[in-house]
Amino acid sequence: MGDPAYLTGFGNHFASEAVAGALPVGRNAPQHVPYGLYAEQLSGTAFTAPRSENRRTWLYRLRPAAQHKPFQPYAGGALIGSAPFMQAPVSPNRLRWDPLPMPDQPTDFIDGLTTCGGNGDMASASGCAIHLYASNRSMERRAFFNADGEMLILPQQGSLRIVTELGVMEVAPLHLALIPRGVRFRVEVEGPVRGYICENYGAPFRLPDLGPIGANGLANPRDFETPEAWFEDRDESTEIIQKFQGGLWATTLDHSPFDGVAWHGNLAPCRYDLRRFNTINTVSFDHPDPSIFTVLTSPSETPGTANVDFVIFPPRWMVAEDTFRPPWFHRNVMSEFMGLIEGAYDAKQGGFVPGGASLHNCMNGHGPDKASYDKAVSADLKPQRIENTMAFMVESRHVIRPTRWAMETPLLQSDYDEAWSGFTKASLPE
Ligand SMILES: [Fe+2]
Repeated sequence: MGDPAYLTGFGNHFASEAVAGALPVGRNAPQHVPYGLYAEQLSGTAFTAPRSENRRTWLYRLRPAAQHKPFQPYAGGALIGSAPFMQAPVSPNRLRWDPLPMPDQPTDFIDGLTTCGGNGDMASASGCAIHLYASNRSMERRAFFNADGEMLILPQQGSLRIVTELGVMEVAPLHLALIPRGVRFRVEVEGPVRGYICENYGAPFRLPDLGPIGANGLANPRDFETPEAWFEDRDESTEIIQKFQGGLWATTLDHSPFDGVAWHGNLAPCRYDLRRFNTINTVSFDHPDPSIFTVLTSPSETPGTANVDFVIFPPRWMVAEDTFRPPWFHRNVMSEFMGLIEGAYDAKQGGFVPGGASLHNCMNGHGPDKASYDKAVSADLKPQRIENTMAFMVESRHVIRPTRWAMETPLLQSDYDEAWSGFTKASLPE
């Protein structure tokens, strides 16, 4: 198969067919679908959700997705977890981790998932989970779907070829992939891969409102790419694994589930190149709040208070006058999980490395480490280009509870608090 083809735009009502004439015209479920295909609606919101929120797609497939035997508990996935985590009270400490090592055994994307933390409650459709993945082989005759939430996938090392029911996406580091709740997919790789996943139980991610910024800026809708319809007609045994209320369940089909010949709708996977983010920042003084870097947001019922915001810290110019330019010291009612895709982050001089992670929960004091502070206050404030960096943050109104794995793994750095040691007391006039 050749390179995947894409349709552009975020949340558009797309229509795509891999075989000419497969898509019914003028109706969703005609008595006789072309070629005898099966019409099937995939609803990502309640039927009656307001039009601006409503997301659904119609698929036309070789067999209905309903044709399967009962799911049984899946034996793998020991390190997968979902909120709410039933464990001891969550630590109030600032936490930071080294990168997940690559597996030393053949491990596919599903078996290579490890849950780092999460919040809210998937049963009541609020909150999120943070997973890490490290894998070194393709999912072969295996497919996965997540009934608990959508999945925002961020490769940090190695490219993923994500085959979905609606089409195929190539997703390299510095891209994100967004896979709606329920969409079946498999991940193919050509070597070791590693990255991060934000699993969102709440309202689907959408582009943030821009307010006074205007009609353009930040992540522009046309830079999101959704795959064209693609299918495979394979009558061979395929294991389907689903995540349902935190547990993994599996069943086996006698055919490939990637048999959607055509589809139309606005519930579809997409990818986005983070380097296309139109970064907006001060041209006078003071560092704006990091919300200026929001790529996607999952709103909660409280206006302006996100279930999850996905935020990036991309390469950019720093030109602020008379300003402490790195992220300032702060304590935040929102909880912040961070990762680093490449390079270095401008508030840390060491310890936070690509593939690593940090967690600063509600009211944890944090900010630049001592070395970054010293550098910033002695800097010559000429325009400066920050290069070779791509950090991201998952920010949530709910405290992010680390998993037992995250608290017990040797990857957890025991000396993180040292980042803020050594600040001398400010001296008042005599
Ligand atoms: Fe922060």
